[in-house]
Amino acid sequence: MKKHMEGKSVVVTGAGRSIGRAIALEIAKMGGSVVVNDINKENAESVVTELKELGVGAVVNTDSISSWDGANNMIKQAVDAFGRIDAVVNNAGILRDVIFHKMTKDDFDEVVDVHLRGYFYVSRAAATYFRNQSSGAYVHMTSTSGLIGNFGQANYSAAKLGIAGLSKSIALDMKRYNVRSNCIAPFAWSPLVATIPTESPDQALRVERMKRMTPDKVGVVAAALCCDKAAHITGQIFAVRMNEIFLMGQSRPVRSVHNGEGWTVDSIFETAMPALEKNMYQLDRSQDIFSWDPI
Ligand SMILES: NC(=O)c1ccc[n+]([C@@H]2O[C@H](COP(=O)([O-])OP(=O)(O)OC[C@H]3O[C@@H](n4cnc5c(N)ncnc54)[C@H](O)[C@@H]3O)[C@@H](O)[C@H]2O)c1
Repeated sequence: MKKHMEGKSVVVTGAGRSIGRAIALEIAKMGGSVVVNDINKENAESVVTELKELGVGAVVNTDSISSWDGANNMIKQAVDAFGRIDAVVNNAGILRDVIFHKMTKDDFDEVVDVHLRGYFYVSRAAATYFRNQSSGAYVHMTSTSGLIGNFGQANYSAAKLGIAGLSKSIALDMKRYNVRSNCIAPFAWSPLVATIPTESPDQALRVERMKRMTPDKVGVVAAALCCDKAAHITGQIFAVRMNEIFLMGQSRPVRSVHNGEGWTVDSIFETAMPALEKNMYQLDRSQDIFSWDPI
């Protein structure tokens, strides 16, 4: 493998297991040094051991990304340990799934604190370095739960769609400093997906196929976006599902109606809504759109 990340230093949040660990390993395979951030110290230490076996620099950071000081500390740790910071992969995440009408303030706040505030804190901490050195890459994990929809995830969907907005704004604001920012909506087998029932043979077969969505498939795309070869790619949202990579759409007008005299409530329902309804979206969930087995 080409050493595209040789001499570079990356902070990967939530890198103690699953997708974050896979991203850290792919960066290390390309010669990059990694700050392995995770609130789970044991997992972070074990990933650091794996990275060091690949011959790269690796250090543990156990700060929570939901802490402003912690976020600044993990970026400073990269600079202290490796002399620089070239990329930030915002990957850490938690779920507090509950149907909306039973969702508590804590359910909402805890998820927004990690996914939206945390991703901002870590990104902002690196921005000062990126600006001063006129280079840098951000990769943020979003989700089709936010981009498309899912049951019982109002907190998570709101935060993940917020991350897409955060990434686009960073891409716009920091382009002048050669800084890029992209999102990935990953699909990977995880303890969460493992809760799907396997009572019928059909369900069992489906789960077996889903187990093939290994985190390394996401890791390689995230690592690629950190390379200099991706210097021209910014403001994009990708989805990664096993061996498929999707470029996701971004919100644009799909149809318009115009009334030179201005609309009334009656004319809205007589003319505007019937015309617009032809293009309205169904109440789709992620699995309605990604309806085929992972390939
Ligand atoms: N697995 C999927 O199919 C899937 C789908 C859509 C989006 N995602 C997103 O991808 C990312 C990784 O998901 P995963 O399946 O690997 O999850 P995971 O739960 O296996 O790993 C997340 C890691 O983040 C760490 N973490 C949690 N809160 C933290 C904090 N405040 N500070 C630092 N670390 C923290 C956890 O300890 C854990 O090791 C998440 O952002 C998730 O929302 C995953």
